[in-house]
Amino acid sequence: MPKVLLIEDDASTAASLQKVLSAEGYEVDIAARGDDGLARAREHNYNVVVTDLRLPGLGGLELVAQLHAAKPKQPIILMTAHGSTETAIEATKLGACDYLVKPFEADELFDLIASAVASSRLMSEPVDMGEARLDCSAIIGNSRAMQAIYKEIGRVAATSATVLIRGPTGTGKELIARAIYQHSDRADKPFIAVNCAAIPDALLESELFGHERGAFTGAQSRRIGRFEQAHGGTLFLDEIGDLNANTQGKLLRVLQERRIQRLGSQADVAVDVRVLAATHRDLEEAIQEKEFRQDLFYRLSVVTIALPPLARRAEDIPQLAKYFIQRYARELGLQAPAVQPEAIAFLQNQPWPGNVRELENVVRQALLLARPFAISLEHAQQVIAKAAQPAADHQAHAAYVAELLARAQKGEVQDAYARMIADLEPELFSQAIRLAHGNQAKAARWLGVTRLKMREKLAQLGLHPAQNEQDE
Ligand SMILES: Nc1ncnc2c1ncn2[C@@H]1O[C@H](COP(=O)(O)OP(=O)(O)OP(=O)(O)O)[C@@H](O)[C@H]1O
Ligand SMILES: [Mg+2]
Repeated sequence: MPKVLLIEDDASTAASLQKVLSAEGYEVDIAARGDDGLARAREHNYNVVVTDLRLPGLGGLELVAQLHAAKPKQPIILMTAHGSTETAIEATKLGACDYLVKPFEADELFDLIASAVASSRLMSEPVDMGEARLDCSAIIGNSRAMQAIYKEIGRVAATSATVLIRGPTGTGKELIARAIYQHSDRADKPFIAVNCAAIPDALLESELFGHERGAFTGAQSRRIGRFEQAHGGTLFLDEIGDLNANTQGKLLRVLQERRIQRLGSQADVAVDVRVLAATHRDLEEAIQEKEFRQDLFYRLSVVTIALPPLARRAEDIPQLAKYFIQRYARELGLQAPAVQPEAIAFLQNQPWPGNVRELENVVRQALLLARPFAISLEHAQQVIAKAAQPAADHQAHAAYVAELLARAQKGEVQDAYARMIADLEPELFSQAIRLAHGNQAKAARWLGVTRLKMREKLAQLGLHPAQNEQDE
């Protein structure tokens, strides 16, 4: 259960926030004074500290500064009253990871806390190499390819070199990024991850570089970008192949000059940030297609770590499968079941287009299917056969699209794209909410939408999560 420290002097606000956060599955401690909150945050490990600005004993801003100095990796969210946004910005500079302007919706707080908890996990959950430890993440595999990668990590970790991590989907790029960070001399400084593909183009630049008040419509106050926030630490730019041309140009400049300009400002701000980047895209091809700048590619790929597809390191599959079995058994509170050698051999011979992530899913499903008994060849075959089904669904999709386009050609449909989304969306949301047992925060996280959006959609589609909960 993630732990939250709430520093708030208003007893009724504190109590109501504690109530909603507990309902969301957080363990919440409350401190009513700034100095008291600071002492607790120093002493205990919280996933996130949420603090008010005005506090007896020690003000929120001073608290942010002191706590950040003591524990640079501790995510802090500042709550401030309307009208003091400048102070909030000051706080991000001092080390707060984000801020909320009162009055705010509970959903806004949930979103910020969820992302802070995720980043605290990235920073604090150690990654072990080659060793199957269950109490932390581990990079498994003793194949020659993986051994070369461990060496590479060791070689680059201690430097401040930019590293480009390449490899098809599900090969472990994020895991490698975390390992590099944890073995670097910046391991005690923040690690900030930005998924470039998940942020709309229009917002990405401001997310990375920040903006001044009035830089564009809707920029009501200044915002500190991730580069500035990561000062002294490490910035992980995931899905870098998806950057648009404009942002590519700006990123190149930052990498060359180590200075950023907030949108709408001429002033340069020096940033000391180690950049790690990852992509599953074939960047050489993207360069050919004029979708990716060659000069940026050269800058990024000073050091490249390329993860091979799982099928090319099939000798790692037995060890990976056993590792995932132990992990999931432990998660489910079961004894780790045995696996038939035939089942392992079968897994070793699959093509694994989804790589390690796919293997992980297959193993989990096989374990659920087999429990409490050993995982047999039949179990493995059954799960793989089920996973092959999307191929059949794919045909159904193709037929659906063909029909939609035919109607569009005849002029019967004028908005084929919107129509398709509208046709498929209900299924996506209803399956997600059912799978999450009605837990909206969880379902929203899976779909990569905010809780607010989730709630809107559920209402709009007439899906009532409470009923779904009872269905289960
Ligand atoms: N060598 C490995 N040992 C143990 N677990 C691994 C290994 N490689 C990948 N995983 C696990 O597989 C899953 C996918 O890994 P990760 O998210 O790092 O992939 P990725 O390359 O970033 O994929 P994508 O391109 O889709 O973002 C994660 O759960 C990760 O922990
Ligand atoms: Mg990834």
